[in-house]
Amino acid sequence: MATVLLTGGAGYIGSHAALEFLNDGSEVVVADNFSNSSPKSIERVEKLTGKKVALREVDVCDKAATRKLFEEFKFDAIVHFAGYKAVGESVAQPLKYYRNNIDSALVLCELMEEFGVNKIVFSSSATVYGTSQNVPLKETEPTGCTNPYGWTKLMIEQILRDFARSNENISVTLLRYFNPVGAHASGEIGEDPLGIPNNLAPFVCQVAVGRREKLSVFGSDYPTPDGTGVRDYIHVVDLALGHVAAYRNAKPGVSVYNLGTGTGYSVLDLVKTFEKVNGVKIPYELTARRPGDVATCYADPTLANEALGWSAKLGLEEMCRDAYNWQKKYPNGYRD
Ligand code: UFG
Repeated sequence: MATVLLTGGAGYIGSHAALEFLNDGSEVVVADNFSNSSPKSIERVEKLTGKKVALREVDVCDKAATRKLFEEFKFDAIVHFAGYKAVGESVAQPLKYYRNNIDSALVLCELMEEFGVNKIVFSSSATVYGTSQNVPLKETEPTGCTNPYGWTKLMIEQILRDFARSNENISVTLLRYFNPVGAHASGEIGEDPLGIPNNLAPFVCQVAVGRREKLSVFGSDYPTPDGTGVRDYIHVVDLALGHVAAYRNAKPGVSVYNLGTGTGYSVLDLVKTFEKVNGVKIPYELTARRPGDVATCYADPTLANEALGWSAKLGLEEMCRDAYNWQKKYPNGYRD
């Protein structure tokens, strides 16, 4: 049985991916420093699947600690989720972002080389398309970033491209995520941001359970059908399955795939759908635009559909239903 290392595997996307890799028959090793995650997510993944995960508290910037993992297990592939991911924080603390995100990627590449591990799947982001409004966005769209978080994603893409160029056996898959939302249908694992959520869906969920009074809708004068920002929301379970498909179809060289649904919804579409499927009211107010936001961003997912045989199956209703189901069950996330 193949063994995969999931860095950041206790986090939001990582834990859903851990579950799907287990369901797919892989052995899963999770390395996580729990800086923005909880070991409870992995306990629940084990319960849901009836399978064991080898969970290790390791910071993948720490090469000696990470080397121990490579000594303990023979990895078939690395799926690299670990990283800081808050856009605003990255503007305020750029060095922290560059140090953490770049170091961890370099450590993994060096250890892959040392131990002859040839496959890596990397969590990139649609943020690498910068301010492009050339929707639907194709993987061939020119890249460029507007904040340090985004630059770390693009720099790591470049590091991995050069790494693959240096060794013909290396397989690099760059997955550019659009906007992951939702939770596993069981409601046992989900998104649990620290502090005030930066992202729309977790904020809406916290309003729904009374943790926050109302949503601020950032901007209502965008050139979109209702004036609010349009994004490609993708169910986190579909996203997780995209990683299994990427791993299964990995080939030497570099492959880049958008993981999105191909459909854009506005902030108010999401709010209205959330209210309808969950029978709750989401009080909101229209406020100023958030600096750095683009009007519209959605994927052309054709390449992933064709090359990976993967497509997103779940719609906005399932995303809203499952996100709320998790939040209702665990209003304080993993801190309950
Ligand atoms: N929004 C609000 N109110 C909120 C939060 C968000 O109106 O409280 C709006 C935003 O203005 C945007 C939409 O909801 O129109 C989605 O915002 P998110 O913060 O949820 O997501 P973003 O599209 O801004 O960010 C996502 C990822 C980042 C990535 C970025 C660019 O979270 O990692 O896409 O691709 F960098």
